[in-house]
Amino acid sequence: MFLTRLVYTSTITDSFSPSDIELILEAARKNNGKRNVTGMLCFSRKYFLQCLEGSRTQVNQIYQKILNDPRHTNIVLLDYQQISHREFSEWSMSYIPESSLTSALSLKYSGASTFNPYEMSGESAHEMMLLLKCTIPSV
Ligand SMILES: Cc1cc2nc3c(=O)[nH]c(=O)nc-3n(C[C@H](O)[C@H](O)[C@H](O)COP(=O)(O)O)c2cc1C
Repeated sequence: MFLTRLVYTSTITDSFSPSDIELILEAARKNNGKRNVTGMLCFSRKYFLQCLEGSRTQVNQIYQKILNDPRHTNIVLLDYQQISHREFSEWSMSYIPESSLTSALSLKYSGASTFNPYEMSGESAHEMMLLLKCTIPSV
């Protein structure tokens, strides 16, 4: 089964409340763990940026569930490709909060100084997440 990486961005809807983050991470860690899917979720005040990696079938199935989630909208696929190895193998879903998504980081990887993944190429978004990986503890 091919190892695949999927990166997308999305925007919260009115049905999202900040306490949903914990519920999303709980569901992600439970479901992804069972399916050997790993990755990272970044969240600012209104944008999500998520990387999923795992077998193509499992990544696609998780993404289908995510696409149907009413808590976000305007879901844009930034990167989808076959990969040789995982980058987030230690995390069923790591989490990067707004406080780590600094203006310096945004300026480095996009045309804007505020976190806006719609302004990033798939490559930039992925590289930024690799940099952020060094800031989180493994679980
Ligand atoms: C931004 C965002 C990211 C999500 N990421 C995941 C994920 O990585 N894995 C997952 O299973 N569900 C994820 N979810 C939740 C799913 O949309 C869905 O609510 C969940 O998979 C349902 O789990 P259940 O079938 O166990 O009830 C995410 C939702 C949002 C809004």
